[in-house]
Amino acid sequence: MNTRTRPASATAKRSRLDPEPLPRRDWIGISAVAAAAGSLLFALLGILRLPKPAVFASPSKTFNVTLPEGLALGQPYIPPGRAVMLVRDEEGVFALSTVCTHLGCLVRPAPDGYECPCHGSRFAPDGAILKGPAPRGLPWLQIDGSGGTYLVDEGVEVPVGTRASL
Ligand code: FES
Repeated sequence: MNTRTRPASATAKRSRLDPEPLPRRDWIGISAVAAAAGSLLFALLGILRLPKPAVFASPSKTFNVTLPEGLALGQPYIPPGRAVMLVRDEEGVFALSTVCTHLGCLVRPAPDGYECPCHGSRFAPDGAILKGPAPRGLPWLQIDGSGGTYLVDEGVEVPVGTRASL
């Protein structure tokens, strides 16, 4: 005689309208198909994204800039979004690149000129190299104009000492 009792749910009579319970092996199969479908979907999304450019065209390298009122002599002004600093001195206004000639970090003003935060190169107020590892000073860039408004071309290097009028 069997002394074990079966749970009520197992012994309850099933209606023929009740759905068949899925066996465990079917659940594993459904999970595997869902995982494969998900992977395929992500792969398709990646493929659809490929034709889009990851890098957009950079803005024009030529731009107009107006120096702020009250900019002191020797104090650099870096226009927002540009890798250029404009400096006014007794002889005029010149434009220096802020891109370090070592590995391309952006230099920042320091008490005795400019310093590179990446590897410690230092530059004089006119961009000349004071301390490596940068191999050379900061490039001087083309600048035209006068009266506080200037046209700067980030893409054109000019000889050291080239200035626009005040
Ligand atoms: Fe400026 Fe290395 S990038 S010192």
